Amino acid sequence: MSKLNWSHYQEATKGSAPASLLMKALQHVPQTGQVLDIGAGGLRDSRFLLAQGFEVYAMDREPSFANLAFEIKNDAFEYVVCNVERFAFPKQRYVLVNAQYVLPYVRKEELPRVLIDVEQSLVPGGVFCGQLFGLRDAWKDQPTISAYPAAKIRELFRPFEDVDIDEKEFDRETAMGSPKHWHVYNMIAKTSTS
Ligand SMILES: C[S@@+](CC[C@H](N)C(=O)[O-])C[C@H]1O[C@@H](n2cnc3c(N)ncnc32)[C@H](O)[C@@H]1O
Repeated sequence: MSKLNWSHYQEATKGSAPASLLMKALQHVPQTGQVLDIGAGGLRDSRFLLAQGFEVYAMDREPSFANLAFEIKNDAFEYVVCNVERFAFPKQRYVLVNAQYVLPYVRKEELPRVLIDVEQSLVPGGVFCGQLFGLRDAWKDQPTISAYPAAKIRELFRPFEDVDIDEKEFDRETAMGSPKHWHVYNMIAKTSTS
């Protein structure tokens, strides 16, 4: 997606409700604590998580999105412009890692290591939520997108102890109003409690 389109995306999603997958994942997060929001975009989820009492570390590789972060005056909020492929993940820090519609943009050769880093950055019993695209997604052949068969997705999430995979296929407009066929794997994955 071009830079121009990302700024349109930011406008289109600013102020919208938090991701439904995030709401589902929060049922598995027992306590407040530190959350990592990867590919935070227009910060809809970061703002919601702050309001729930979490400390939020948000990251996005698109520099033009940082302007929204400056508007958030909250000591529990930190923001960094960074590509997740180069992020120095801390060990056992987050109760939740939220990655709404960002992993499809991570290069295929980097995703296995990124997911291992995500798993190791979670506290025992910590939760990851995010999506990958399946092979019937309309964007599967775009050069900046990666799509996967179900078996590969199960393999990628092997570092996690407990994985819930919810495959969905539907037609719906994108945030910017274009028609699209979506083939999405919604993932909620937990680390071991010990
Ligand atoms: C489809 S938007 C989703 C934004 C937000 N998570 C939401 O659900 O509203 C994808 C976001 O991921 C960011 N992004 C894409 N690839 C990334 C990467 N490798 N590292 C960090 N951010 C990335 C984009 O800049 C964009 O803000």
